[in-house]
Amino acid sequence: MPTFDFSAIEQCSNEELDARVDRARLPRHVAVIMDGNGRWAKARFMPRIAGHYEGMKSVREVVTGCREIGIQALTLYAFSQENWKRPSEEIGLLMKLMESYLQTELSLLLEQDIRFMTIGRTELLPKPVLEWIQKVETATRDCQTMILTVAVSYGGRGEIVDALRGIIEDYRDGKVTIHDIDEALVEQHLYTAALPELDLLIRTSGEARISNFLLWQIAYAELHLTKTLWPDFRRRELLVALLDYQTRERRFGGTTAPDLTGTSGA
Ligand code: IPE
Ligand code: IPE
Ligand code: MG
Repeated sequence: MPTFDFSAIEQCSNEELDARVDRARLPRHVAVIMDGNGRWAKARFMPRIAGHYEGMKSVREVVTGCREIGIQALTLYAFSQENWKRPSEEIGLLMKLMESYLQTELSLLLEQDIRFMTIGRTELLPKPVLEWIQKVETATRDCQTMILTVAVSYGGRGEIVDALRGIIEDYRDGKVTIHDIDEALVEQHLYTAALPELDLLIRTSGEARISNFLLWQIAYAELHLTKTLWPDFRRRELLVALLDYQTRERRFGGTTAPDLTGTSGA
């Protein structure tokens, strides 16, 4: 297991960090809970929206960085089902920001061959945002290099409920029997059915909770929790997260320790 001396990280340049990321052992699918925009703005005596605006720059850098490094799938948590509880002014500004992100990023996504998709109850979004989402999803449909999924109006429990509904409809229509219901079938009904297994989940801003994100998919994901606020999470932080991931020994419930009897196979 290659190890990385994190105590020396301050002295490493971005280029050095980049060179240390083992391209052969990358997570296939990285997801990020992008948190801390409000606190970033508050620390600067700015309105919360200024933090969201700055956070968009991090989105751009992390999307481009993941694509360059060779990550197959990146999923970003942009707006949760519970975020509808926020003041309507903040929601309105976030929706405007999302619309302008989609407008300005479309050409960049096409240029970088990145497919865009959303997961969540997007039907609740304002019409102009929904129209832009559909436009960008359609325009990037055939892009192959990376898939960028943005979770908007998303809740992990809601996703599992929607999967249950889909399975029960298939049962009612005679397409599946009780015996067909297994983990693979549930996965086929999740919003993320087309994505590879989630390997790495990053949460910024020092919180250590999941906040209703990808509840099924995190089963064996490695977690990287950082105090860095999302607007400060740039390419360097991404490299650190990937290096941290590469120090982990993934056991999936098994063991890599030698067998106790010293013999192999009993
Ligand atoms: C994350 O930043 C962005 C969204 C949830 C939309 P926050 O807005 O939650 O920022 P904090 O957590 O209040 O600092
Ligand atoms: C999680 O952040 C949702 C997103 C990043 C979109 P929140 O700020 O909404 O989460 P809590 O309220 O701290 O759990
Ligand atoms: Mg927050």
